Amino acid sequence: MDSSETSGHRSPSNIAEYFGRLAATYGDGEYYGNRRRAVLEAIAGELADARDVLDVGCGNGAYLAKFAAAPGNRVRGVTGADLSIEMLLAARRRVGLECRLLCADVSRLPFKPASFDFIFASHVLQFVADVDLDGVVAEFARCLPPGGLLVATGRRDEGFRQMLSAIVGPDRWREYREVIFQHVPRRAADASPNDRYQQAFARSGLRVEERAAPFTVGWADIEELINVRWMPLIPEGEREQAGAMLAEIAELAKAGPSPRLTLREPLILGRRDG
Ligand SMILES: C[S@@+](CC[C@H](N)C(=O)[O-])C[C@H]1O[C@@H](n2cnc3c(N)ncnc32)[C@H](O)[C@@H]1O
Repeated sequence: MDSSETSGHRSPSNIAEYFGRLAATYGDGEYYGNRRRAVLEAIAGELADARDVLDVGCGNGAYLAKFAAAPGNRVRGVTGADLSIEMLLAARRRVGLECRLLCADVSRLPFKPASFDFIFASHVLQFVADVDLDGVVAEFARCLPPGGLLVATGRRDEGFRQMLSAIVGPDRWREYREVIFQHVPRRAADASPNDRYQQAFARSGLRVEERAAPFTVGWADIEELINVRWMPLIPEGEREQAGAMLAEIAELAKAGPSPRLTLREPLILGRRDG
């Protein structure tokens, strides 16, 4: 999901362990479904031309399934790579034998140069430490032929956090956030990730374009998102407290006018010049 999911300088095994706990639920529900639809729509033109697709940090394969099944596309093969074995097992259950899956770190991709003409990196770059960003983007660029395209998500939209804060008030929100979101590793200073990503793309010789994928969610979708994305990370002993807090937010949300929110999933496209 977001740059709230940033890893700072976590090791690959920590990241794999962190996401292993989310393998059964990540990407489920209306929030993620709406977001995926918006992203796929925003890149439909480029996807229609893709032949060999690589999804780096593919997680449990929600996008892989879409790439493999896109109607009328020219896709010849879809490959997914991730650090987490649990995510890859969940992806295998989802996509069957449709896609090639492998356990790999984005900084060392085991592919020959120019192996893929479409590389997709959704909510992955935020887990790459600043010092490694150039190397990772260069690794993606190495795997693209001239004319190939890298699509990555950029900075998250803060909208739904603002929605939660508006529902419970900023003081309560700070308290709730500590319990519900405390297990999310944060990057200390990540003021302008979009700029950092774009600069890294440009330094790797990619021609950069920014795009946004708007999608709309309501309170029920946000509540579901919290249940699939954050609740599985809360230690057993704190679940009851977190559950009570979420129930209170839900009560307040339902008492007010039904809030709907349009969020914009930011995309950064990098074309390797031919
Ligand atoms: C937030 S999830 C996004 C999953 C998927 N891309 C999506 O948008 O539905 C991030 C995924 O990236 C993977 N990941 C993070 N750092 C990675 C790295 N250095 N190499 C490979 N995968 C990584 C995690 O294991 C996790 O499955």
